[in-house]
Amino acid sequence: MRRTSFSKPSSTLRRTAFALVGAAALALGGASAAVAAGDSVAPKDVSWSWEGPFGTFDRAALQRGFQVYKEVCAACHSLKYVKYRNLGDAGGPGFSEAEVKAIAAGYQITDGPNDEGDMFERPGLPKDAFKSPFENEQLAKLANGGALPPDLSLMTKARDGGADYLYSLLTGYEDAPAGFEVGPGLNYNVYFPGHQIAMAQPIYEDSVSYADGTPATVEQMSKDVTAFLHWAAEPKLEARKQTGFMVMTFLVILAGLLYFTQRKIWSDQH
Ligand code: HEC
Repeated sequence: MRRTSFSKPSSTLRRTAFALVGAAALALGGASAAVAAGDSVAPKDVSWSWEGPFGTFDRAALQRGFQVYKEVCAACHSLKYVKYRNLGDAGGPGFSEAEVKAIAAGYQITDGPNDEGDMFERPGLPKDAFKSPFENEQLAKLANGGALPPDLSLMTKARDGGADYLYSLLTGYEDAPAGFEVGPGLNYNVYFPGHQIAMAQPIYEDSVSYADGTPATVEQMSKDVTAFLHWAAEPKLEARKQTGFMVMTFLVILAGLLYFTQRKIWSDQH
């Protein structure tokens, strides 16, 4: 008796709570939809080699993308969660050991302190993280008119639209439409929320020269560097898909075995 008299108000409470949460979710959803509609444009739908259950990275594209990052983006953007040795990963760009060593050695890394208590410079090693272009955020901002170039290690995961957004951003510089006032030090970009970005268009025709002879168009370089940065953000993508495939195969075989076992066990019952 006592229990029922307690359960009544509590179930009413629960219902009210559900209603409130539901209303809040609706309100929030509505608000974000309104922001999305007013502020940003849906990114281009690019077809990527890693899409689908069997998709893998395109090694040549990742190597070209690394070149674009190194020769263009690295002037402003760090990539601090990636190590030079990752460039040799089988599930990544797949550079040879010698190539990785040579790439790392091309950078001067600050190390130390040594026995005298001093920091010192030495050539980079595969175990080092990618060297950042600026010593700290303050210097990075100072060099970029007050805007901070964000670290690119996790960029394709940090933005709605992921790789599609990144590609669209890089290829989305245009003249501002008539009547659109672009602020000082800002650039018009179709895909950047609000359309005014502090980063000037970074990639132009032939910004880099590809060793494999691929024409260095704005679209090609944007696609390659986006693929490279997507690998940087998801280095285990191929391994994960492979495990998924093995698990599915195992389940299919197991289901088959169970089916025939069941048939066998019950066959003399009919
Ligand atoms: C001359 C410096 C400079 C170069 C070179 C540069 N960027 Fe930027 N980038 C910036 C700055 C500054 C911002 C911050 C813009 C802002 O917040 O308005 C930025 C922002 C970004 C963003 C974040 C956009 C967002 O949604 O917030 C991405 C992604 C990006 N850059 C990618 C790249 C890539 C890829 C390259 C190389 C192809 C590159 N950048 C080259 C300075 C640079």
